[in-house]
Amino acid sequence: MLTPPRPAGVGLPAPPGTKPAAGAGASQAAPGNSVYPLRPMGAVSEVAHHDPTGRKGPASDRKRELLSLILAAGLGKRMQSRTSKLLHEVAGRPMVRHVIEATKGAGVARTVVVIGSQADEVRGAIGDHDKRIAFAFQKDQLGTGHAVLCAERQLQGHQGDVLILNGDLPSLRPETLQTFVAFHRSHGAPLSLLTTVIPEPHGYGRVIRNYGGDVSRIVEETDATPEERATQEINCGIYCVDSQALFRPLRQATRDNAQGEIYLTDLVEILRKEGRKIAAYRHPESREVLGVNDRRELAAAALALYKRKADALMLSGVSLIDPGSTYIDTQVTIGRDSTIEPGVMIQGDTRIGAEVRIGCGSRLFDCQIGDGTEILPYSVIASSRVGRGCRIGPFAHLRPDTTLDEGARIGNFVETKKSRLGRGSKANHLAYLGDAEIGRDVNIGAGTITCNYDGVAKHRTIIEDDVFIGSDTQLVAPVRVKRGAFVGAGSTITKDVPSHALALSRARQETKEGWARRFGPAARRNGPSREGG
Ligand code: UD1
Ligand code: CA
Repeated sequence: MLTPPRPAGVGLPAPPGTKPAAGAGASQAAPGNSVYPLRPMGAVSEVAHHDPTGRKGPASDRKRELLSLILAAGLGKRMQSRTSKLLHEVAGRPMVRHVIEATKGAGVARTVVVIGSQADEVRGAIGDHDKRIAFAFQKDQLGTGHAVLCAERQLQGHQGDVLILNGDLPSLRPETLQTFVAFHRSHGAPLSLLTTVIPEPHGYGRVIRNYGGDVSRIVEETDATPEERATQEINCGIYCVDSQALFRPLRQATRDNAQGEIYLTDLVEILRKEGRKIAAYRHPESREVLGVNDRRELAAAALALYKRKADALMLSGVSLIDPGSTYIDTQVTIGRDSTIEPGVMIQGDTRIGAEVRIGCGSRLFDCQIGDGTEILPYSVIASSRVGRGCRIGPFAHLRPDTTLDEGARIGNFVETKKSRLGRGSKANHLAYLGDAEIGRDVNIGAGTITCNYDGVAKHRTIIEDDVFIGSDTQLVAPVRVKRGAFVGAGSTITKDVPSHALALSRARQETKEGWARRFGPAARRNGPSREGG
């Protein structure tokens, strides 16, 4: 039966074949390395409980508390990247964050993430603020089983189930995890696997069953015989295991395999040899549970998430003219009756109101767009706030920290940066507005440039309400054009303009009567004789 829980603080032998420094999960695993002050999990009984099976009752609940353990220490060689596989973005989030979100959505009380390769970056991508997430450190990447052993301390005292997940499962849905946990609990086996059947199982661990159909072991591709490789049922790297049947048996795993690693998958055979049963839940939707190993799989996972997002948006009342060419990140929100034209990317933490139209070929990143705003084709908008009823583009470029108040208009070939355009103001053609504060009902003529940079520092341009800036004006900052003033076309404004004044700085026009007839191109073509000169 179940092994009694290990008293807290008892030292653990290192797993076979590991350097003691790598540590079987002790928080001092990285010796002398204060960069990794690994937070212990704390008493499990303090944790707010959420049981996806919906069962209640304090004593038994505590026992069946569900924690998750995410393996995120590997680099992922097949990505051919300097960056950890888990940090590669899929539909706007680092891969590992999708897995964390899935566990949160499934009602997991706490999560331990095993980090190692690019540990700081992976931890940074996950964030340190969430008290329900703790980290364990795997100094050397000696395999998935070793990664689990490195988290033993963080899981100490926990008596319920542990949901173990590879970190490379960006498409995994919380509902699937809930189904799987419910399956595990109803079967009563100490270990359950999530498997799926695919026609081309290359690269994945194969699930080997005995004649009775029970799972007997998992064999990795590199260790498999040709017959075993023909098996199309694969291990997805998603396990649910009673914590009492995890660490003690796993310490028996050896590095005696083709990759010289401690495989988590060996736990199957070890438990079987102890006469325990292994349950396997075969997930019908394979694409959702396939680990991403290379960049082809990365692209496939991203497309699957974009499709899922497109479907959810359409069901909630957003029109996508061509969902297949529309790329909307997971966390984006869009209001009802908005229309997204083909070839649009909407990324990051973008929030779009209702009845908005986004023209083809546009890209939005970390933006807020108010109700009823229209963005005409080929506009690029980053980290900006756009009010209601605005019109932008075509071919507009709103760079970070642009704010458009209600009803403002930015036309074609207009670039803005760190600027605000007040209510009803317009810059309809060919302009650069940088570091500018523009009031209400201002007209910015075609070709207006804020000269905001003197080669050393940036300066602000302030244009108050009801100002008219004539075409082709240069505003040499710092400069202020006060309320109701009028700047004549073609001016270079270097001094503040008082309220209701006219400022003009262009050279006065000179006109020479008859000059062109005598000296213009026609005169030269025809020769001087015609004019009798
Ligand atoms: C693993 C499984 C395989 C399964 C496949 C599903 C093992 C031995 N094999 O293989 O049966 O079909 O996933 O995708 O588990 N990791 C660590 N520390 C390590 C090694 C890996 O944290 O020392 C992490 C990785 O960052 C990754 C996960 O574990 O998130 C899986 O590692 P990966 O190398 O992708 O495993 P596979 O060889 O694909
Ligand atoms: Ca994998």
